[in-house]
Amino acid sequence: MATVYRQVMSWLDERFGAGSIEDFLRHKTIPLHRHTVWYYFGGMTLFLFVVQVLTGILLLLYYRPTPNDAFESVQYMVTQVRFGWLIRSVHSWSANLMIFTVFVHMFSAYFLKAYRKPRELTWVTGMLLLIVVLGFGFTGYLLPWNTLAYFATKVGTQMAGSVPLIGKWLLIYLRGGEEVTGATLTRFFGFHVAVLPGLTTVLLAMHLLLVQQLGMSVPPGVERSIAAGREPARSMPFFPNFLLRDIMGWYAALGVLGALAAIFPWELGTKADPFAAAPAGIRPEWYFLFMFQTLKLLPPKVLFLDGEFAGILGFALAGAVWIAVPFIDRKVGFGRVTRFFTGLGIFAIGYMVVMSALVFR
Ligand code: HEM
Repeated sequence: MATVYRQVMSWLDERFGAGSIEDFLRHKTIPLHRHTVWYYFGGMTLFLFVVQVLTGILLLLYYRPTPNDAFESVQYMVTQVRFGWLIRSVHSWSANLMIFTVFVHMFSAYFLKAYRKPRELTWVTGMLLLIVVLGFGFTGYLLPWNTLAYFATKVGTQMAGSVPLIGKWLLIYLRGGEEVTGATLTRFFGFHVAVLPGLTTVLLAMHLLLVQQLGMSVPPGVERSIAAGREPARSMPFFPNFLLRDIMGWYAALGVLGALAAIFPWELGTKADPFAAAPAGIRPEWYFLFMFQTLKLLPPKVLFLDGEFAGILGFALAGAVWIAVPFIDRKVGFGRVTRFFTGLGIFAIGYMVVMSALVFR
């Protein structure tokens, strides 16, 4: 093992410069304090993304992106192809777990103030990744062309149609026409397997490069107690100590994924019939529920604006503020401003949870 390691290292050194890889691995450290656990969520999201890429490539071997064939090709995969059901189920579960971990990662970076100078761009590339990840969820949902997905896409693209200024254009662009048809499926397939993976690769490279360059942040509360001598400044080498812990987490995640996929195989439902009436209780995936419920609760008119339009405008503004947070909160240290932004984050989570729960009333 040690010989293989030395050989790999010397090969890398020859190609990339003497000692550079080993330096990189040895010199990166992870701060140790009461919030260290949150540093695992970026790596966990990365792991689930890799699972998505690998299972997605396998799904592509059988999937056919046309309204006539899509449903049947998935049905064939889960009933006839050996372990096809498992691959599809892992892909769907992992997609949902990844969206969950990316939210945990975002909120932990937010609460630990990891977005503050000099990590503004790390935050912005992260937010763009979040949008792309939600895009993966939205486009992937339609691909099996089943009833729930068809009508949820109708509702979702309708909501996109209410976006200020570009709404109408966005609706036609997403649907490939006025209605959700085969053109929509072709587009969503293209976004899901080509455009979004391409964007993710570029954004992820930037995100990870920035993390590598800037090192891990230490939360202001911890910095304060280190400065006051209440706790020592401690850290752990990234390689091999932190990476081995990361790998243990990934291994556990693989176990959870396998168990979820086998015990609760992802359902396929019935084939979409565009001419049928929308079934009752149609709703989007869980991560869009808070927006869906907000729009449902709004009255037809808010001041002089159309209710849905006002809601989407509100979300667009809140999203813009959230992306720009590193440029608004330019404080260093720990004080009233820090508490204000922490309060804002708690309000955001509370809002999302309560609104989502209201759907099931
Ligand atoms: C595909 C999605 C993403 C992946 C794979 C990813 C991956 C990572 C990894 C591996 C790290 C280093 C370890 C860690 O802090 O957990 C990191 C750090 C970071 N990420 Fe992400 N990330 C993603 C999305 C996001 C999002 C949505 C945000 C917030 C808007 C974000 C903001 C940050 C920040 C600020 C850091 C630096 C943390 C620090 O220095 O303490 N990331 N990310």
